[in-house]
Amino acid sequence: MLIQIITGTTREGRFSERVAGWVFDHVSKRADAEIVDLRDHPLPFFDAPPPAKAPREYANDAVARLGTTLDRADGYIVLTAEYNHGYPAVLKNAMDWTFVEWTRKPISFVGWGNVGGARAVEQLRQVAVEFEMAPLRHAVHILPDTMIAARQTADQAIFSPLEPRLELLTEDLLWWAAALRAARPHQVS
Ligand SMILES: Cc1cc2nc3c(=O)[nH]c(=O)nc-3n(C[C@H](O)[C@H](O)[C@H](O)COP(=O)(O)O)c2cc1C
Repeated sequence: MLIQIITGTTREGRFSERVAGWVFDHVSKRADAEIVDLRDHPLPFFDAPPPAKAPREYANDAVARLGTTLDRADGYIVLTAEYNHGYPAVLKNAMDWTFVEWTRKPISFVGWGNVGGARAVEQLRQVAVEFEMAPLRHAVHILPDTMIAARQTADQAIFSPLEPRLELLTEDLLWWAAALRAARPHQVS
């Protein structure tokens, strides 16, 4: 069972890097886990035919590398900031280049910002439905006080009040990942 932790932001000085380390340390105690850093997958703005209609027909090597990476996961934890009350464009752009790689897998979110990234997370849940994913109820929301404190120390313990939420998310994600992994070979389309 492989869980991928996807960094949804790529800008200089990004907070997602701190979150990725914490989430990876937690999840990797329970399952195989890897960080998929979108900085390692620079892509042009999406400009191809719909990937849903041409599964795994990759337009170029960069898309192929992203697609084959996502393909091997059984579930995803997307780490997302909120940019102008929406999800980061770099994250949506990466998603738009792919499709079936995500299908019938569970997805959950760790968000941050003034309202813990809640608006971006809610929007991403809607996007996930279109990808025929199972977006989960449990998410982790990091509020500004924790963000400010986390910027002042490299100690992961700064996130410890959020550990129970992350554990709930992990527990739920692993349940869905196992269930859907067993069911995926029998999918109807
Ligand atoms: C372009 C931009 C727009 C932002 N808009 C919001 C917003 O709508 N809501 C919010 O809570 N924070 C917003 N912020 C602040 C982010 O929460 C904060 O910069 C956070 O660190 C972004 O994550 P990142 O560092 O991983 O990019 C915005 C930041 C940027 C750069």
